Amino acid sequence: MTISRIELGGASVDASVDRTIQLVQAGQAEGSTCSPDLAAGPWEFDAGPLGYGPGSSMGDVIPVGSPRQGELPAAYRTASADELDARIRAAKETLGERVVILGHFYQRDEVIAYANFVGDSFQLANAAKAKPDAEAIIFCGVHFMAETADLLSRPEQAVILPNLAAGCSMADMADIDSVQECWEQLEALYGTEPDADGRVPVIPVTYMNSSAALKGFCGEHGGIVCTSSNAETVLAWAFERGQRVLFFPDQHLGRNTAKAMGVPLEQMPMWNPRKALGGSSAADLLDARVILWHGFCSVHRRFTVDQIAQARVEHPGVRVIVHPECPMAVVDAADEYGSTDYITKAIAAAPAGSTFAIGTEINLVQRLAAEYPQHTIFCLDPVICPCSTMYRIHPGYLAWVLEALVGSAERPAEVLNRITVSDDVAAPARVALERMLAARPPASGGGSASVTAPAPVPVASFVGA
Ligand code: 13P
Ligand code: SF4
Repeated sequence: MTISRIELGGASVDASVDRTIQLVQAGQAEGSTCSPDLAAGPWEFDAGPLGYGPGSSMGDVIPVGSPRQGELPAAYRTASADELDARIRAAKETLGERVVILGHFYQRDEVIAYANFVGDSFQLANAAKAKPDAEAIIFCGVHFMAETADLLSRPEQAVILPNLAAGCSMADMADIDSVQECWEQLEALYGTEPDADGRVPVIPVTYMNSSAALKGFCGEHGGIVCTSSNAETVLAWAFERGQRVLFFPDQHLGRNTAKAMGVPLEQMPMWNPRKALGGSSAADLLDARVILWHGFCSVHRRFTVDQIAQARVEHPGVRVIVHPECPMAVVDAADEYGSTDYITKAIAAAPAGSTFAIGTEINLVQRLAAEYPQHTIFCLDPVICPCSTMYRIHPGYLAWVLEALVGSAERPAEVLNRITVSDDVAAPARVALERMLAARPPASGGGSASVTAPAPVPVASFVGA
């Protein structure tokens, strides 16, 4: 059996992400560029020498400093799906309100089944605040999301990432040392004096998908954090205070947003941290409005203009919505672009019988297709891999951290895999986050979306659990 397109909603509801992975494993997923190793247990590829493991980001090299997950105890590796289900439910029941489980939109369904809240990274960080009495917040997303939850939750609350190897390849493309080095070179070029309007030479802006250390860097240097929902508002904030912006780590979000605001492409040079002056000329950097860090998301980089053309041929009238982490040509060819929150709201508000081709991670697309059977919803990429780093969180890891919290007669209760941002980083990182929360769209109404945290989605209203 082969599949050429995963298509749910009004039509066939055949292909779950797991089913697709099984086809990849059997070498039967036509057109797939995924590795068959994707179906192996996540702990198996943690030990691999290079890269983020099987899936769409396997070509990216894991930086030396990234956390590594030790081996999961055998009891959790060998347990059947049914046994893990029973153990997770029993531990959740015992812990009750003491624990809250958060699941990102891109998380696999076998983990989402246990989540109390499902949402985007910022909604989930705020969901932690909505449960101030929970002692433990189990974050089923990736490392930078858990760090942000730690920044926003009470100090007594422990944020737990069930598998420490669930990093983000894009976030790891900008490390604090490379950004400091870049900053020194830019200061040497621009100086530090403000212009006649009081605007400093450059303002650092980091995407939420970055380490807490980079958020702290922005807090210390007059900069700010943005999400994919508020990038335009945040850039407008930065342009009021600076002559130009250094935007990291995602070049595509930076380029797509600045282009929509009228910044010419020639004034957006790229900064490649492996090259002197980032690989750009001093003249180009002096003329720059936005300096784009050479980072990208391996999942969103897979979408192409050809896929959009194909969707339009096969589904006349289709509405194409892509995430702003997609390359500029893809965003330009789509009908709309927006964050995961934007995509979910657009689908929820559409009249019944609409057809959507979506350019974002497959778990979210398939869940939306199942949630809105009155529409036809499919992923632009016929056989796309999931976010392979988030996929590393498996029910085995969830059972492991939950049962550790419960403890037993033989083993005292303990918090495993706690993510803690040190105080020296947390203080300036919170400053950068607070600037984002206080930023308002320009009076012209040019902002792309709300800058205040949207409400998290209680799981019952999203996955029907
Ligand atoms: P959100 O900020 O929409 O959760 O997106 C996170 C992400 O990783 C997108 O690739
Ligand atoms: Fe990172 Fe891309 Fe995964 Fe988002 S989808 S967590 S940006 S690797």
